[in-house]
Amino acid sequence: MQGDRPRRFRAVQWPLKEKQALSASGGGALGDPLSFIPSGEPRPKTTVATLREKKLHGEPITCLTAYDYATARLVDEASIDIILVGDSLAQTMLGYENTLSVTLEEMLHHTRAVRRGVQRAFLVADMPFGSFHVTADDALRNATRFVKEGGAEAVKMEGGKKRADLIRRIIDAEIPVAGHIGLTPQSVNLMGGYKVQGKTLTAIEQLMHDAVALDRAGVACLYLEGIPREVAAMITAEVTAPTIGIGAGPECDGQVLVFHDIVNLNFGTPAKFVRRYGDAAGLIRNAVEAFRTDVLSRQYPSDDESYHLPKETRQALETVLERKRGLRT
Ligand code: KIV
Repeated sequence: MQGDRPRRFRAVQWPLKEKQALSASGGGALGDPLSFIPSGEPRPKTTVATLREKKLHGEPITCLTAYDYATARLVDEASIDIILVGDSLAQTMLGYENTLSVTLEEMLHHTRAVRRGVQRAFLVADMPFGSFHVTADDALRNATRFVKEGGAEAVKMEGGKKRADLIRRIIDAEIPVAGHIGLTPQSVNLMGGYKVQGKTLTAIEQLMHDAVALDRAGVACLYLEGIPREVAAMITAEVTAPTIGIGAGPECDGQVLVFHDIVNLNFGTPAKFVRRYGDAAGLIRNAVEAFRTDVLSRQYPSDDESYHLPKETRQALETVLERKRGLRT
């Protein structure tokens, strides 16, 4: 992802497409749906309709990954619109080399934990490599598990036009689907590494076809990863689905980053597009080292951090101990 400079792009003829009226599928006429949280405070719930409304009104959409309960709570409470249980958890949480190894069961385990921490955000779960590549029946069964067992509100699937029929089938089963094109990490072996996509006219045309096919299939939103900003801007203008970019420039309808990247919990060299907003690694290292020092120097725990016997028990115990001492002398 390094060293890729935006280039000016000359107009190419794309297939003409009649724009659907955003509001037709946006469902915003009834106002924001509400979800009621246990405290009794009504808070607006983000839905597919909310995302479309935001695109329509030019309001940026925010998305972050989360993989566990605590992070999900913090991200949700910060009013991020979409929480993505990305298969990037293969690397960030499980230490795998790439996303290819993570299993459906592992993804479901993390999705359930995130579900318990989310009240307002739209919860999207990534379908891992192998979970939608064999048969359409398997893919539908697996997508259903993310909704039924994981509590996801949508599933995300990597791939372009060739996934359009499958995406239609899953949407027909009432499961919203997020598309994902461009640099799709599950295709790392076919792509020959993590390389910015859409840099030639042929590749741009292919990406446009992919985006339009997924849009027509009815995706709830479309993730654009690792493509030149000019191409992402054209796709964003062309499709009715909100585009969520990562390494795809500022013209996308929304932006997503990996949580571990923004808080410096990623042990590698960050990609060009990553912006760090905090240093959790520094914070954790300092805390762990301070704990170790305190234990070694017997500064931890203090008397205040210890439990004590009730007064009567302490007095009774002292009496017993005194009697024992008296018997010994
Ligand atoms: O797995 C993931 O985190 C993703 C985002 C980078 C879009 O797919």
